[in-house]
Amino acid sequence: MKIAVFPGDGIGTEVTREAVRVLEALPLPGLTLFEGDVGAAGYRRHGHPLPPETLAMAQSCDAILFGAVGDPSCDGLERHLRPEQAVLGLRAELGLFANLRPATTFAGLEGMSALKPEIASQIDMLIVRELNGDVYFGDKGMRTTADGRREGWDMMSYAEDEVRRIAHVGFRAAQGRKGRLTSVDKANVLETSQLWRDVMTETSTQYPDVTLDHLYVDNAAMQMVRAPGQFDVIVTGNLFGDILSDQASMCVGSIGLLASASMGERMTEYGTFGLYEPIHGSAPDIAGQGIANPMATILSAAMMLRHSFGREAEAARIERAVSHALKDGIYSSDLGGVLGTAAIGDAVLERL
Ligand code: NAD
Ligand code: IPM
Ligand code: MN
Repeated sequence: MKIAVFPGDGIGTEVTREAVRVLEALPLPGLTLFEGDVGAAGYRRHGHPLPPETLAMAQSCDAILFGAVGDPSCDGLERHLRPEQAVLGLRAELGLFANLRPATTFAGLEGMSALKPEIASQIDMLIVRELNGDVYFGDKGMRTTADGRREGWDMMSYAEDEVRRIAHVGFRAAQGRKGRLTSVDKANVLETSQLWRDVMTETSTQYPDVTLDHLYVDNAAMQMVRAPGQFDVIVTGNLFGDILSDQASMCVGSIGLLASASMGERMTEYGTFGLYEPIHGSAPDIAGQGIANPMATILSAAMMLRHSFGREAEAARIERAVSHALKDGIYSSDLGGVLGTAAIGDAVLERL
């Protein structure tokens, strides 16, 4: 069971350390961890945010545990050298097109939500975000027009097979949950979204046990804070999924709680190859202070054990430990508490 650990930048290194401690505390014979450089750390040491040796390491492992990348000192670099290219490059190079971002309110945490507790208590949703297409990966550029104005552009597009494969992920996920799938798009304005909607509707005929509905993304953002309990599985494109999942995090209490799994078609001898990371970034505003919440990364490690290694028991064990810690009031600063990153890690380890 080979795991590539890519801590990255800022709080990425701090939260990954705690997730690694949790993995190492579990009875997982044959578990081997390898560490690689990504992001600004990769750029500083190897001249590239996704050095070839890091990509090779990722390809030779069964799963990746990823912290976060991003460093304000790199904002002036050419885009292909910026830290974010590490995560975008891994997603693209490894064909990780399906990003699962569960958001469920932990018992006892209803009061931490940005929403009213009685609204927050109903949240149990899974955002299925397409991860290999959309405006993220289209042709882009900046130029000065003939009359001297600067112009930037980014091409948004989806091909039908790209939509179909994520549709299947969404429908299958809904089958395993409450049987409701909400597809989020902007079909009233965008052709990309019209195709998205058409393909979702076509695919739905293969899943008579799933109820499909469609929402425009602006309405979906509103509904997510008005009545988030209505959502079971949301399937959406790369950009809308990015934005809606950060919003979902505050609906359940903190961005420091949301884990994610990114998967494609590659199988290993243990399960589906995947990359596991918190949904948050490198948080330069709190990096180096030892106060970041490592729970999202610890929960990402649980998703890894479930999806990439078929270790449901150990995954559930981690999730129960986190859940108990939260029930016991083990809070980092994002939840209004005073405990630091390592103390949160200790508390989860004690409850394993
Ligand atoms: P961010 O998610 O890093 O931080 C947003 C806010 O949430 C900050 O106030 C931060 O302190 C807080 N926060 C985030 N995670 C936290 C945690 N675990 N515990 C407590 N507080 C937490 O988003 P940003 O500030 O917009 O981006 C910072 C950098 O991270 C940028 O370079 C961005 O591109 C990058 N980024 C990377 C990833 C990734 O690696 N997958 C994801 C998102 C952002
Ligand atoms: C995320 C991040 C990334 C994204 C950035 C860092 C490229 O925000 O993983 O949610 O937009 O996908
Ligand atoms: Mn994001």
